[in-house]
Amino acid sequence: MKQFWNERYAQEAYAYGTEPNAFFKNTLGKLSPGKLLLPAEGEGRNGVYAAMHGWEVSAFDQSEEGKRKADMLAENRGVRFDYKVGILEDMPFESGYFDVIGLIYAHFPAEVKEAYHRAFNSLLKPGGYIVFEAFSKGNLEYLRENPAIGGPRDAAMLFSKEELQHYFPDYEFELLSEDEVFLHEGLFHQGKGLVIRMLARKKS
Ligand SMILES: C[S@@+](CC[C@H](N)C(=O)[O-])C[C@H]1O[C@@H](n2cnc3c(N)ncnc32)[C@H](O)[C@@H]1O
Repeated sequence: MKQFWNERYAQEAYAYGTEPNAFFKNTLGKLSPGKLLLPAEGEGRNGVYAAMHGWEVSAFDQSEEGKRKADMLAENRGVRFDYKVGILEDMPFESGYFDVIGLIYAHFPAEVKEAYHRAFNSLLKPGGYIVFEAFSKGNLEYLRENPAIGGPRDAAMLFSKEELQHYFPDYEFELLSEDEVFLHEGLFHQGKGLVIRMLARKKS
């Protein structure tokens, strides 16, 4: 999969555009800037936006090409943020360190998915927030109608509301919804799709 992502990001165009995801942008605007972690950050659209708006951003992704594009975008916008190349197991993050974790289309392989979400819980401070948008399991039907929407074809990499409640049992869900959306994000998220959105606060 790493090769797949490096090849996708080797193109000149930004796969998901250079603007932040709309739900991430709107939700971040309601929270006080602090320490933000962005797993699976790709080409940096969300990290760059957050750094421009006062957040102390840490990010990681397995793709060297993703980091190269993120660094270019950050330089272009006059900001810097900490972007490490690797998988979660290699990351040096301290537990309870982050105020907010942004999981934006962070579709991990099925075999690590549950362990990763439990680890994200450990990395978040009590009282901290998780901002989440990713494709629902129901997006597979949308994908058949509209291949341009993108997203994993493996149902085990997709999400449901019940799954997120299971991963994050000690959270207050300020929002947990399954929404039909029209995405216009770069080359690979175009048109009608079905996503899960969540804003959840870790109980103190
Ligand atoms: C759909 S892209 C999303 C990129 C970005 N979050 C965005 O919304 O623009 C999914 C990303 O997950 C990354 N990824 C998948 N599995 C990973 C893993 N185990 N460790 C780190 N990154 C991973 C891929 O390299 C890819 O950049």
